[in-house]
Amino acid sequence: MRLLVTGAAGFIGSNFVRRVLARPAGVERLVAVDLLTYAGNLANLGECLADPRVRFERLDIADRDAMAALVRAEHVDAVVNLAAETHVDRSIDDHGPFLRANVHGVLALLDAVRDRPEFRRFLQVSTDEVYGSVAQGRSVETAPLHPSSPYAASKAAADAFVQAYQATYGVPTTITRCCNNYGPHQFPEKLIPLFVTNALEDKPLPLYGDGMQVRDWIHVDDHCDALWHLVERDDTLGRVYNVSANEERTNRDVTAVILAATGRPHSLVRTVADRPGHDRRYALDAARLRATGWVPRWRFEDGIAETIAWYGRERAWVESVRSGAYRDYYEHMYGQRLREGRPAPAEREP
Ligand code: NAD
Ligand code: TYD
Repeated sequence: MRLLVTGAAGFIGSNFVRRVLARPAGVERLVAVDLLTYAGNLANLGECLADPRVRFERLDIADRDAMAALVRAEHVDAVVNLAAETHVDRSIDDHGPFLRANVHGVLALLDAVRDRPEFRRFLQVSTDEVYGSVAQGRSVETAPLHPSSPYAASKAAADAFVQAYQATYGVPTTITRCCNNYGPHQFPEKLIPLFVTNALEDKPLPLYGDGMQVRDWIHVDDHCDALWHLVERDDTLGRVYNVSANEERTNRDVTAVILAATGRPHSLVRTVADRPGHDRRYALDAARLRATGWVPRWRFEDGIAETIAWYGRERAWVESVRSGAYRDYYEHMYGQRLREGRPAPAEREP
């Protein structure tokens, strides 16, 4: 396989590349593309960059000419698209980069691979957020899409274009919709790495609203293994797969686990103004994927303990990604909210 992995220097991308290269029958060639935005960090790929099968290119996936030239030059026969703008709060501030990376980027990649007879698979990595909030039960792949945030809307648009290219041009595609990931190398803007790195420095944990929102959590290794599992199977073409380990937790539960593991008091938690359009609950039915033989390996309690330990050890990594731009982002996103916030009610009344 001559594989193009986009977003390769991001959180999931770098974990995916590392796991694919470690497989005995992995890939003949791995072309890694990343624009190295604020979320992309070449250090995430570490020793992978020295592997003779790997070529890294700093490119924008929305650059149509660059994508077409790269696919042609490298005889790419499979794409795993992990490049995206990914943070809901940033999408509420400015949808521009989301439209470019998540919609125009996907179209540029699809155009680069269409009309290539040897091309075998376009795997679009999507998200459970396209289904919107689910009050009860679990979303199945045939459920209607109800995106709430500009981020989710851009991912839903991408899913629609991928399906349109399959129908119109016969591009062989698979779409995965995964729940919330956690694990090493996640940028500290998402809930778990933000709260862990703040707790380790005795900084406040800004909990949105009542903290009773529910997310379905999966260790990044299990997500990456599901992606590879699907790439290897021809009978998964033309289909959509939910990816979930069925580990639902409220944000308050997750916060309590982080406080216990870092030995910090509940008084660090601040109730702050809620996110507009905040989805109350995500939950996925992953029976279709499980029927293909994939099983998750991480239990949430073990995975989160390992992840918290990683952030505790990798202080240099944390410092390197929290540049001046991060400090500006943090002040912009949390400065006023934290000043206006209040202590969160106790987890459980004694
Ligand atoms: P991330 O923000 O850590 O990484 C995204 C990477 O894409 C970064 O390295 C960034 O530099 C790169 N990138 C952004 N725009 C680009 C462009 N125009 N051209 C090339 N590279 C670009 O995100 P992640 O958490 O690793 O997410 C990867 C994919 O998985 C995304 O498509 C996301 O929607 C999806 N996903 C993530 C989660 C999650 O919980 N993190 C859950 C489900 C699905
Ligand atoms: P996030 O990690 O942004 O993922 P997503 O919104 O894409 O699921 O947020 C996970 C949950 O944590 C979500 O309900 C919002 C909440 N949250 C906070 O309470 N405080 C924060 O500072 C952040 C970043 C998230």
